[in-house]
Amino acid sequence: MDKFIIRGGHRLSGTVAISGAKNASLALMPAALLASGTSRLENTPRLRDITTMSTLLETMGVVVRHPGTTIELDTRTISSYEAPYELVKRMRASFYVLGPLLGRFGYAKVSYPGGCAWGPRPVDLHLKAMQALGAEIHIEAGYVVAKTNRLTGADITFDISSVGATGNALMAAVLAKGTTVIRNAATEPEITQLAQFLTHMGARIDGIGGNCLTIEGVDELHAADDRNIPDRIEAGTYLAAAAATGGEVTLKNVDPSHLTGVLAKFREAGCTIETTVDGVSLRAPDRLEAVNVTTAIYPGFPTDMQAQWMSMMAVAHGSSVITDTVYFDRFNHVPELQRLGAHIDVTKNTAVIHGLDTLTGATVMSTDLRASASLIIAGLVASGSTEVLRVYHIDRGYEAIELKLRDLGADIQRVDSEEY
Ligand code: EPZ
Repeated sequence: MDKFIIRGGHRLSGTVAISGAKNASLALMPAALLASGTSRLENTPRLRDITTMSTLLETMGVVVRHPGTTIELDTRTISSYEAPYELVKRMRASFYVLGPLLGRFGYAKVSYPGGCAWGPRPVDLHLKAMQALGAEIHIEAGYVVAKTNRLTGADITFDISSVGATGNALMAAVLAKGTTVIRNAATEPEITQLAQFLTHMGARIDGIGGNCLTIEGVDELHAADDRNIPDRIEAGTYLAAAAATGGEVTLKNVDPSHLTGVLAKFREAGCTIETTVDGVSLRAPDRLEAVNVTTAIYPGFPTDMQAQWMSMMAVAHGSSVITDTVYFDRFNHVPELQRLGAHIDVTKNTAVIHGLDTLTGATVMSTDLRASASLIIAGLVASGSTEVLRVYHIDRGYEAIELKLRDLGADIQRVDSEEY
């Protein structure tokens, strides 16, 4: 297992290119199952999660090639409609194959996603949507088995806004017979990207970008090419690293319109932010001001930026309050930040952070993707050396992070480690 060794105290400066959006790719790839042919998705990042999804699709008979940052999915020889536990337990997004398999083949056997580093993370909304569309669903030894002759359009209202359930419902509805309305749909850019890709495949979807989607089912879709959106969470993470270290960075290949809620908070913390059509520049103040954050669904402050923001606030001037309203226990990074000296108190889904002048390097353990990012940011700030263990978590969602950080002036090395 690899670990990172970081020597803190360096201000980040320079330019970094942002990769394609992990959470869009993880929806676009299974969407290709809905048609027979070869779909090409440009700007697909090279990440562990993408490899996991590729492996899952290959077990179904899809031929996957990933030259450079374009992934090619040839779905002409699909032979299996199952997503095995071994892969689903590795990545919850594997559950995204449920909708397209049901929609196109009328059958899917998908393992229940296991636990997560935080949770619970149920899939009840996904299953309710499939049942509303006419699927028969039963649970068999930890697997969801779903069957239908052909899905029929339905009026679906989600009790809570769910990215994954919206994605699965969309991918199931596009080949259903009749009209489907999805109310309280997620409006994250990754869902908008998925809906646009589905229309390129021949789907008929109205209301894209809003929280009420109307889908006129069609009989067949065709393979299509598309270009993935930039990763807004990767972008926010590099902004957080620059802000925490008092640096100045410019991000390329990013869509600032996906980050309005986040950029407003960086400005509130004292950062100077400038944007162009595909870029964001940040100049940090000598010391960040403490700023409260409450996570929310898009376009609010994303839960996927909560841990990174906490690392910034650990060295800000004053005390701040972070409340996560999406996941009530997504705080596994707190005890690790406390090992670096951070002064943080957690009560239920709220953390109070008392900003300190600095942190002190130590060995810390990654527990999940965004927690890993927060530990790296804290290590970049801390005095002395910080070792971040189990960086396989970070490799799930950040392409070549140590190379990009080194290009910005960070002292970070990846080393092989026997430590667990
Ligand atoms: C997506 O997960 C993202 N993953 C997550 O990013 C992100 O944190 C999350 O959306 C929220 O923005 C991908 O897109 C692959 P949800 P998802 O369904 O779809 C509850 C990362 O770091 N819920 O929008 O699983 C759920 O418990 C990852 O890149 C139900 O109750 O999230 C949560 O409280 C981590 N029942 C809320 O909805 C359901 O059936 C939002 O979850 C589904 C969800």
